Amino acid sequence: MQTFKWDGHLKTGNELIDMEHKQIVDIYNDCVELALNKTENRKLIARLNELQVKLAEHFRTEEILAGCILASDAGRLKLAEHKARHDYMLDYLKTAIPKLAEQGDNTAAAQELLDHIHEWYETHIEHEDREFVSYVKRRFAS
Ligand SMILES: [Fe+2]
Repeated sequence: MQTFKWDGHLKTGNELIDMEHKQIVDIYNDCVELALNKTENRKLIARLNELQVKLAEHFRTEEILAGCILASDAGRLKLAEHKARHDYMLDYLKTAIPKLAEQGDNTAAAQELLDHIHEWYETHIEHEDREFVSYVKRRFAS
């Protein structure tokens, strides 16, 4: 289980998106601390639920922003692909968090869940969100 370091590798250059990404990273890092310290499972589950809510809100922010900007056919296709990636993670959390809650204190299961979120989130920010932000920049530059 690894925490995120909030440094240049996760920044997209869009102030709003970076601010929300940082809030999500902070909640995720709390989840890792709770899992590593083997505190009661219910505290971890509560924080994971907050992570799920914050991610859903943030994805909505990105999708609204993208919907305003990516008006061309190519843009709409990109938005649909991006939204599908968001929906994948929300569906995963919807199933994985209650499953973890049922298992009681299970550090291995918590680790597996957090590692999956970490890998997905890092890849998503570094590739898909950066690409999206570059569309935003180009749109406002022209
Ligand atoms: Fe995204």
